Amino acid sequence: MPTLAELEREVARCTRCRLAQGRTQAVFARGDPTSGLMVIGEGPGAEEDRQGLPFVGRSGQLLDRLVAEEMGLDRGQIYVTNIVRCRPPGNRDPSDDEVAACTPYLEAMLELVEPAVIVTLGNFASRFMLGTTEGVTRLRGREYPCRGAALVPTFHPSAALRGGGGEILAAMRADFVRAKRCLLAADRYPGGPGAGPAARSAAR
Ligand code: URA
Repeated sequence: MPTLAELEREVARCTRCRLAQGRTQAVFARGDPTSGLMVIGEGPGAEEDRQGLPFVGRSGQLLDRLVAEEMGLDRGQIYVTNIVRCRPPGNRDPSDDEVAACTPYLEAMLELVEPAVIVTLGNFASRFMLGTTEGVTRLRGREYPCRGAALVPTFHPSAALRGGGGEILAAMRADFVRAKRCLLAADRYPGGPGAGPAARSAAR
């Protein structure tokens, strides 16, 4: 198993799918890989492609605000990535073959980071991670066991930014409160006794 740094170097050179042709750079992840919380979106947008970091545009600002307000964590205390690591042109959904080409990277990241809680943002990430065709409106409001973690599906921040009468934002707030509860229950909330890397390796 490569380290995260090795994996990131491999992703930077990746040409496994056509998205490599249109990218400025691959977008691996941001935040703390020892965090108990992994947030998974769909794919990089224009700003993410420019900066090489996920969720740095308007959606990312809203994500960071909700995590701070509802979970008490700052942006450096969570680990954020996407289903695909290169920007789909025109922000279209990634195609099945593009997702399949990028999945081994996500699988490796999940194994290396070992999150206790996974928050999926929007239909695309929630459906993929849960292996269902059900939409996030139906899926959200509970947590699901997934790869040894509790998976909490919620709306994509872009849905809240598009409007929705505040209902989407209220639902997202409730989902992040749920994610905090799951992190506490797993003893992986930052500052808690089971949270740090030392405590984690001692527990292995
Ligand atoms: N939307 C996503 O799904 N991912 C990003 O990184 C940015 C916007």
